[in-house]
Amino acid sequence: MGAGIAQVAAQAEFDVVLHDVEQRFVERGRATISGSLAKLHEKGRLTGTPEEVMGRVRFTTDLADFADRDLVVEAIVENEGVKSDLFRRLGEIVQPGGVLASNTSSIPITSLGAASGRPEKFIGMHFMNPVPLMQLVEVIRGYSTSDETARTVLEAARRMGKTPLECNDFPGFVSNRVLMPMINEAIQCVMEGVATPEAIDGIMKMGMNHPMGPLTLADFIGLDTCLAIMEVLHRGLGDDKYRPSPLLRKMVQAGLLGRKSGRGFYEYQSK
Ligand code: CAA
Repeated sequence: MGAGIAQVAAQAEFDVVLHDVEQRFVERGRATISGSLAKLHEKGRLTGTPEEVMGRVRFTTDLADFADRDLVVEAIVENEGVKSDLFRRLGEIVQPGGVLASNTSSIPITSLGAASGRPEKFIGMHFMNPVPLMQLVEVIRGYSTSDETARTVLEAARRMGKTPLECNDFPGFVSNRVLMPMINEAIQCVMEGVATPEAIDGIMKMGMNHPMGPLTLADFIGLDTCLAIMEVLHRGLGDDKYRPSPLLRKMVQAGLLGRKSGRGFYEYQSK
């Protein structure tokens, strides 16, 4: 998602730095952006040329390159410890006026804000996948987020052509508190033999007019991410209705993570 966020920011004429931990991941991000821009250009949906947009993105493996940034959006693995460590470092590196935002899908904004050492300048900026195509940015205020920080991020999201909608910091926010139990229930239906994955997806696609069935969507999001979100809901809300399906847990243990691993509820030809 980081590549998608960098791309829409560059399309909005922001000066962008895209960081990843290793050069090969940086190159993968570059290739993702380049493929997406080519597609949008082909369809006449890009302002300027792909080269112009790409020219606004600097790629790096050095976190120190964030020192002069006004806004940093994190989109790393959905793990609170790893995110907190990163924000601790960013809190020391980024100039004091810079806003730090997390694209987390469920981890508490308030605790990531505390780890960053600048909770008033910390906020959730939750994009939807695929970022270049999806309209929504869920903006989540932590306990200490200032009005000015919220304004900065709402403005940035609008400039990126997105529609930001605000909510408060509760487990799963709004998007995943509503979406993930539906996906979890679809997985439970597979486990109980209620129907095949194809039938479950077909019923939800044709019956509810969803663009993707819940199991196709789970594969698209990543089953490990789905499990991590269900665990946050279960732990954070303390209600067993959020218990992750044992089948979801088992598939993650088996390395069946969906599209990114080549297999989840369906098989995919390339990673
Ligand atoms: N950049 C540019 N173009 C892209 C693209 C990208 N990143 N991704 C797909 N496209 C293109 C496709 O290549 C395709 O092009 P062609 O028409 O030339 O083939 C076009 O967009 C439309 O795609 P499709 O025809 O494959 O399918 P579609 O019309 O159904 O649209 C979709 C695709 C927008 C992804 C749609 O299926 C959809 O809305 N799916 C649901 C997505 C969703 O629910 N996202 C939220 C997930 S939850 C989340 O992100 C947050 C979380 O916390 C877990």
